[in-house]
Amino acid sequence: MFGKKKQTSTIDKDQLELIENAQKRIKQKKRLYIHFVIFLIGAVFLILANTVLGIGENFKIAGIDWFVYAIVAWLFLFIYHFINVFITHKFMGKEWEKQQLDKLVDQQKKRIEKLKKQLPVKESPANQNQIAPSDVVSSGKKKPSGLTMIVAAGENNAIGKDNDLIWHLRDDLKRFKSLTSGHHIIMGRKTYESFAKPLPNRTHVVITRQPNYKAPIGVIVVHNLEDALDAARADDQPFIIGGGEIYKQAMPFARKIELTRVHASFDNADTFFPEIDTSQWEEVTRTKHESDGDHAFSFSFITYLRK
Ligand SMILES: NC(=O)c1ccc[n+]([C@@H]2O[C@H](COP(=O)([O-])OP(=O)(O)OC[C@H]3O[C@@H](n4cnc5c(N)ncnc54)[C@H](OP(=O)(O)O)[C@@H]3O)[C@@H](O)[C@H]2O)c1
Repeated sequence: MFGKKKQTSTIDKDQLELIENAQKRIKQKKRLYIHFVIFLIGAVFLILANTVLGIGENFKIAGIDWFVYAIVAWLFLFIYHFINVFITHKFMGKEWEKQQLDKLVDQQKKRIEKLKKQLPVKESPANQNQIAPSDVVSSGKKKPSGLTMIVAAGENNAIGKDNDLIWHLRDDLKRFKSLTSGHHIIMGRKTYESFAKPLPNRTHVVITRQPNYKAPIGVIVVHNLEDALDAARADDQPFIIGGGEIYKQAMPFARKIELTRVHASFDNADTFFPEIDTSQWEEVTRTKHESDGDHAFSFSFITYLRK
């Protein structure tokens, strides 16, 4: 599960769609041009075949040489091709792409403005540079409704060591997969790099301060938590999947915590989950899983909801 991955591009899905459409148009026009050249050469060849080489010299339909029919039929095919490229697909042309791009930029600008207005910064010693947390939540305006933190933590809140997990709990991984599949998963750059490759069937949003960070196409790269939440705005339940730094920053925005409490203390850990403040969080469900051949530790799945 863990290892280094290939890195390619930071282009997001919308931009990618526009680029792909532009490339498609170029290919369509190239093919039409090639068709035209072949048609010209073919037409000359058909005429020469009949008049110079004498192929089908005597074959006429209604007194007209066969090559005339062949050329006319081909001409119709070429016209059909031409109409396809310049009329049927015109709505996907450069103008269309420009309009889409402008629309996209407009939407982003509006969203940023809206966010700026809706997110007054609440200063606290621990969160000097962050968006005001519970204001966002309680205001009922912009906030990632259903933002859920999902984590497995020891009794001492240990979550990792040397950029890796400390345990392997098969049923916990299964639950992680089943809860997060189909959703946006927001993570810090270090957690992302702990994966051998992106997890299937989930949209990855990776937070990094590195301006030129490269990730495979489809992985969304952002440079702060606010943009990460915005990138997942269409998702009714985006997940914060770690690691320690991101959990700490995202805790104030979350509505739900899906905690796997591993019933052991891990003193060798170097990364920790923040303390869950029970004056703000209410435990709503708890299911215990005993240790067994596949699970070295017993653990409990606990769901917390913000009070
Ligand atoms: N037990 C679990 O459920 C669980 C889940 C996930 C991860 N983990 C573990 O947690 C550990 C990794 O956690 P971690 O705290 O070391 O790293 P992390 O939170 O995964 O990533 C930290 C990185 O995120 C970027 N970042 C953080 N805050 C940012 C901000 N406000 N703006 C822009 N970029 C920001 C920075 O990347 P740059 O350095 O690129 O700027 C930073 O180095 C690993 O051991 C992993 O196995 C455990």
